[in-house]
Amino acid sequence: MTNDVRTVEWTGDGLRLLDQTVLPGRVEYVVVRDVGALVDAIRRLVVRGAPALGVTGAFGVAIAVRQAAREGWDDAGRDAAITRVREARPTAVNLAAGVDRALPFVAKGADAVAAEAQALLDEDVRGNHAIGAFGADWILRRSADRPLRVLTHCNAGALATAGWGTALGVIREMHDRGRVEIVYADETRPLLQGARLTAWELDQAGIPCLVQADGAAPSTILRGLADVAVIGADRIAANGDTANKIGSVGVALACHAAGIPLVVAAPWSTVDLALADGGGIPIEERPAGEITTWGGIRTVPDRVGAFNPAFDVTPARLVTALVTETGVLEVSAGVTPRQRAAEKP
Ligand code: MRU
Repeated sequence: MTNDVRTVEWTGDGLRLLDQTVLPGRVEYVVVRDVGALVDAIRRLVVRGAPALGVTGAFGVAIAVRQAAREGWDDAGRDAAITRVREARPTAVNLAAGVDRALPFVAKGADAVAAEAQALLDEDVRGNHAIGAFGADWILRRSADRPLRVLTHCNAGALATAGWGTALGVIREMHDRGRVEIVYADETRPLLQGARLTAWELDQAGIPCLVQADGAAPSTILRGLADVAVIGADRIAANGDTANKIGSVGVALACHAAGIPLVVAAPWSTVDLALADGGGIPIEERPAGEITTWGGIRTVPDRVGAFNPAFDVTPARLVTALVTETGVLEVSAGVTPRQRAAEKP
C-alpha cells in the first residue's frame, strides 16, 4: 500500500478512517468525532480487520471522553458509550482489548487516552513487520527453492491493521525476497474483502495476484496449484482454535488434505487465553441482506431468508503454524498458545 494511505489516524479531535466500503473504486476518508458515528462505522466495516479494530477501539475511548466533556455527560454516560464501542462487533478480541488498554487513561483525559492508542498503533505496525519476517523465514525454510504460489482469504493486510499487514505482511516480505510467484486471493463472500481490498493492496505493491471465487479455493489447493495458504485471525483460543473470516475452514481442510501448510499470521493480542477452545468464540451474524441481494438487487426468492455468519473457527489440528510478533508456534504439532504463554517469564 502506498505510504500516504492510512487506515486509522488520530486528527487531534477525531478519528480519520479510510472508508473501506468504497474501495477500490474510491479512496475516501471519513472523520468521526462522536461515539454513534464510530459504532456505525465499525458495524458497516468502514474500518475492519482485527488489529485495525483494536486501534480504533482505543481511539474510540478518546472520542467518548471528548464527547462526554463536550456534551456534559456524567461518568456513567461516558462509560456506557465506551461499552458501545467495545461491543460494536463481537468476534475480533482486539476491539475489546484495544478499549481495555485505553481505560486506565480515561481519568487523565482524552489526550492521554489518544497517546496510549497511538502507542498501540505504532506497536501494531512494528509487530506486523516482525510477523512478516518470522512468517517468511518459517515458510521459505520448508519450501522448494523457487517463488511460491500463495493462497489467502479475506483481507489481513495494511487495511486490516495499522500498516503492513499480518498475512499480507508475510506475503509482502516473501515478495521482497523474490519468493512470490502468484497470490490467489479468495474474493471473500459476501462483502468481497479479498476482491476489493486484498487485490487492491497487492496491486499497489506490485505483487502478482489473481482473484478467485471462494468456492474455487479448495480445488485450487487440491489441484496442487498452491504451495501454502496464509490467513489472518480474529480470535485464537488457548488451544489454537482460530476464528477468521467465513470460508477459512474450507481452506484449512483442503490444506490438510493436500499436505500443504496453513499459516495463521496474527499479533499475540488476537490470542484470547480466557477461552480454552474455539467453542466459546462469539461468531458475528450479519444482516441477511448481505446474502439475499447483489448490487442492490434481490437475488433470493422473497420468502427465503439467509444465514450469514461472518466468521468460522478452524480447529487447532488444522493450523500448521501460528506466526506472531514473538515467533512461530507449530500448533498442529502440539505447540499451543496456552503452552507458549506458560513459558513466558
Ligand atoms: O469482517 P472483517 O473484514 O473485519 O474480517 C476480517 C478478517 O476476517 C481478517 O482476516 C482478520 O480480522 C485478520 S486482519 C489482520
